[in-house]
Amino acid sequence: MKNNGFVRVADLHKDFLMGETRVQALSGVSLEIEQGSFTVVMGPSGSGKSTLLYLIGGLDWPTSGSIHVDGEEIEKMDENSLAGYRSSKVGFVFQSFNLVSSMPAEENVSFPLRFAGIAPAERKTRSQNLLEQVGLSDRATHKPTELSGGQQQRVAIARALINNPLLILADEPTGNLDSNSGLAIMQLLSDLHKSGKTIIVVTHDSRIKQFSTNTIFLLDGKTVSEQTYRQATELMSQP
Ligand SMILES: Nc1ncnc2c1ncn2[C@@H]1O[C@H](COP(=O)(O)OP(=O)(O)OP(=O)(O)O)[C@@H](O)[C@H]1O
Ligand SMILES: [Mg+2]
Repeated sequence: MKNNGFVRVADLHKDFLMGETRVQALSGVSLEIEQGSFTVVMGPSGSGKSTLLYLIGGLDWPTSGSIHVDGEEIEKMDENSLAGYRSSKVGFVFQSFNLVSSMPAEENVSFPLRFAGIAPAERKTRSQNLLEQVGLSDRATHKPTELSGGQQQRVAIARALINNPLLILADEPTGNLDSNSGLAIMQLLSDLHKSGKTIIVVTHDSRIKQFSTNTIFLLDGKTVSEQTYRQATELMSQP
């Protein structure tokens, strides 16, 4: 069932204090994301894309404003509730994969379940199923250094799925990959979207357009229209 306002962000501000200077990473972002959508976040470096993703994913608190996800108001949560929110509802995928180098793929995938009191046999079955889903059943015992970048990112996606989250947040998931591996990762995200996940992905790769349902444009910590965005980024790219 589609549910309007699955993610609702209202007048979101995030400031960082750097010594005496205050950096306004987000200055009044409001947006709504529908359940089952595939949203792309675009914006120049420093425009607040990662900050927005991390706040929606409950990795940090905003300076002000509100964030509702799946009916929960997450900015009001304490550390413990936020950890519960992250582990039950959100899967993260990062540009740099963030795998544990000493662990084989299978253990990297099941790692989040260690803290959920799930028995080793069950953990193994679940991670094997997910590795199969991302096309890596034959690499379960490989450590990250024994995998290509694209394969490492697929392991990271399998790990993001281990708790069956409704929401997948990906921050430049193809940024460290060659063009073909990048496309394969986008296709994998698209498959997840088709299976009902809500996806929010930060990317500079315009090929994402064929998979996404909507785009959010960020400039200087604010959402802008596509037209404003195009005009501003054209100006930026002029010599
Ligand atoms: N932990 C932090 N401490 C201080 N300033 C920060 C912190 N995180 C982000 N910022 C600042 O907030 C602004 C937005 O950063 P953010 O990482 O969200 O940008 P971005 O759009 O993801 O950029 P990029 O495309 O380079 O990844 C930047 O000016 C950045 O320097
Ligand atoms: Mg970023």
